[in-house]
Amino acid sequence: MINHVESPIIEIHDLTVSYDQSPVLWNVDLSLPSGKLIGILGPNGAGKSTLIKAIMGLVSPSGGYVKLFDKSLEEVRSRISYVPQRESVDWNFPASVLDVVLMGTYGKLGLFKRPGKKEKELAMECLEKVGMHGFAKRQISELSGGQQQRVFIARSLAQNADLYLMDEPFAGVDMATETAIFELLKQMTAEGKTVVVVHHDIYSAVNYFDWFIMLNLHLVASGPKETVITEELLRKTYGGKLNLLTKVSELIRQKEFNPLKN
Ligand SMILES: Nc1ncnc2c1ncn2[C@@H]1O[C@H](COP(=O)(O)OP(=O)(O)O)[C@@H](O)[C@H]1O
Ligand SMILES: [Mg+2]
Repeated sequence: MINHVESPIIEIHDLTVSYDQSPVLWNVDLSLPSGKLIGILGPNGAGKSTLIKAIMGLVSPSGGYVKLFDKSLEEVRSRISYVPQRESVDWNFPASVLDVVLMGTYGKLGLFKRPGKKEKELAMECLEKVGMHGFAKRQISELSGGQQQRVFIARSLAQNADLYLMDEPFAGVDMATETAIFELLKQMTAEGKTVVVVHHDIYSAVNYFDWFIMLNLHLVASGPKETVITEELLRKTYGGKLNLLTKVSELIRQKEFNPLKN
């Protein structure tokens, strides 16, 4: 199921991505609206990270194309913030938590300018938003996985982008922090920003997102929650892993999802 979108922020046309000549994403066609909190769902190996990397130009498609803000990636890169999946980052690099978040401000600073007081204040504000301001001076390598994730989210917030692409940013993050950060992301979308998040937990996902991309090597669906969170499409996305879906089916029946909107 594909929904038509006026003036999409991301437009993906017939995208195929292969590693060593075997495709892991097949003929993906979708358009995403701006100002929404968008969740990418799919089982392990479904191609979720690959889709985000293709949007960021980090893998080259073997077919099709991606357009952002109706422009090419090069023209709009500074308006996009990307949080890579945890496993793909070397967490042993020597840098303090504050330094990592300050990196988020570099794009707006321009060449040869060093971050000053204003940037440091912004970085501290962003650390506060993710509850990590007490750790500013610590080395990033000394933190727990969930704390490192929160610092990466803070770095992303410091970029002050228009489009955020976050690949499983909540892995290892406690539920209370996750919910608080989702409230923040929701506010950002209310201000017109677009946030795309790969999320591992369907149960909480139905509460958080407005719009879903459901992926399993092929695109299963892309559309507003009301139309795509159905038992049939979830089954198509996750295949036989039915126990996972029982709770979601129950939610759909009770129609009690989306407490954040109210
Ligand atoms: N750099 C790579 N080289 C070869 N195969 C890869 C590479 N990255 C991912 N894959 C494979 O592509 C498929 C999709 O991976 P990925 O996009 O990471 O899925 P997801 O994020 O949904 O778990 C998986 O089968 C994975 O093993
Ligand atoms: Mg992944």
